[in-house]
Amino acid sequence: MPLTSTPKAQAEYRFRCISCGHVAETASQDFRCAKCADLLEIHYPGWQQAPPNPQHLRDLWQQRKLTQKAVDLSGVWRFRELLPALDAGLDEDQQAITLREGNTPLYELPQCARITGVPRLFAKHQGMNPTASFKDTGMTVAATFARRAGFHWVACASTGNTSASMAAYAARGGMRSLVLVPEGKISWSKLSQALDYGAVTCQLRTDFDGCLRLLQDLVRNAPVYQLNSINPFRLEGQKTLALELLEQLDWQPPDHIIVPGGNLGNSSAIGKALLEMGNLGLIPRLPKLSVIQAEGANALVRTLREAAGKKLVSVRAETRATAIRIGNPASWKKAANVLEATDGACEQVSEVEIAQAKAEIGAEGIGCEPASAVTLAGLKKLLKQNFVKPDESVVLILTGNVLKDPEFTIDFHRGELFKGTKDEEAMRPLQSLRRPPIVLDAKLDAVIRTLEQAEKT
Ligand code: F0G
Repeated sequence: MPLTSTPKAQAEYRFRCISCGHVAETASQDFRCAKCADLLEIHYPGWQQAPPNPQHLRDLWQQRKLTQKAVDLSGVWRFRELLPALDAGLDEDQQAITLREGNTPLYELPQCARITGVPRLFAKHQGMNPTASFKDTGMTVAATFARRAGFHWVACASTGNTSASMAAYAARGGMRSLVLVPEGKISWSKLSQALDYGAVTCQLRTDFDGCLRLLQDLVRNAPVYQLNSINPFRLEGQKTLALELLEQLDWQPPDHIIVPGGNLGNSSAIGKALLEMGNLGLIPRLPKLSVIQAEGANALVRTLREAAGKKLVSVRAETRATAIRIGNPASWKKAANVLEATDGACEQVSEVEIAQAKAEIGAEGIGCEPASAVTLAGLKKLLKQNFVKPDESVVLILTGNVLKDPEFTIDFHRGELFKGTKDEEAMRPLQSLRRPPIVLDAKLDAVIRTLEQAEKT
C-alpha cells in the first residue's frame, strides 16, 4: 500500500517523451519531443513522492455523483485527481468545457454470451456519449486545455468521430474548428454532425493518413491547436473510460478488455489508465488489454508479427469499417507498450466477421458501428486460440453508436453490403441475421401475412 496523502483537486503534470524519457513543462504545437521527436505522454511527478490514497479517491468519486456541479456530473472530470490540473483558484465549472460526457452504461450481452460460450461477457458502450462516440471523453479535456492556452482555432484529421466530437466541444467552448476528412470515406452521419456543430469542414482527396500528415504541417505553420490523439490531453480524458469501468465492476478487474484499434490512441489511453490504477493501488491486478484491427487496416498486427513491435509496418488501409480505415497509426508505439505491459493480444478480423458481429450486437438491442464490432469478432478468434478461456470475464469496448453508420447497416440488411466483391459468397451464411425492410400495400391482411411468415423464421 503506498504512502497516503489528501489528493489535490487535480494533478500537477509534465510532458514526458515515450522514447527518450525527456521531461518538459511545455510542449510544442506538434506534441513531439524536443530532443528526439517521438510522442509525448502526460506524467504526474507528484505521485512518486505523495501518491493519493486509493480508498479516499474511490469514496470521493462516488460522492461527486450526488452533487450538481458540472465537473462532478461529467464522467470524465469526476475523476480529475488523475487528470492534468486546471487553474487553482478559478471556478472549475467555468474552466471545463463539458457536455456531461462519460457516464456510459456497462451492459450484459446474454445472446453474444451464448454465441461465444463466455457467460461473463459485457459491453462498455462509449457510443452513449454526447456526440455518440468515445471521442468525447478525450475531447472535453483537450478542448479545455486548448481554450486555456488561448487558441481561437482547433483542428483535427478524422475518419469522422473525432471531427464530430471536436466540432461540438469547440462550439461549446466558443472556439472555431477546422476538420480535415478523407473525401467519400466517412459516414454521412459523422459528416453531418461536424457541419451542424459549425466546423469548417474540408473533404480532402486523400485518405486519413494523408489528412493527418497535412494537419501536422498546418499546426507548425498556423496558430491552430491540434486535437488529434497525438495530443496527450486527449488520452488523459480517454483514460477515464477505464476508471469508470472499474468503478462499475466494484474495482474488481475483468480478465480481459478488448478494444478496436485504428490510430491506436484509445488502446494507449486505456492501457495507461490500467497501469496507473495498478501503481496507485486502485486495482489488485491488471486485466489483459487486447487490440483488434480490420484485416484491411492491420498495421499494428503486422508491426508486432513482422517487426517484433520495434518499427511501424504501415499499410494501405481498406475496410468498410471506415472509422478504423487507417494505415499509419500515430500511437503504434504507445499501444505496443501497453499490450506488452498487460500481456494482451493483437488480432485481425475479416470484413464478413465484422458484419456478422455487428448484426449480433444489434440483435441484443444495443447496436454499434462497424469498427466497434471488431471486438466481438476478435473475441471469437481469441477463444479459438485459447488466449481467452470461456470461464474468464470479458469486457468489449463499443466505441461508436449504431446510428453513426446507417449506410453499413442498411446495406447489410438489404443483402447489398459486399455485392459484387470477393466477400459476396461468404455473406450467404449470414442470411438469418438479415432483417430487410418489407414494402407492402397499406392493408391489414398483408401485414398479418407478414407477421405469420416472420413467426416461422
Ligand atoms: N472505433 C471508432 C468508432 C472510431 O471512430 C475509432 C477512431 C476507433 C474505433 C479507433 O480508435 O484511433 O483510438 O485506435 N476514430 C478516429 C476518428 C481515428 O478520426 O474518428 P483509435
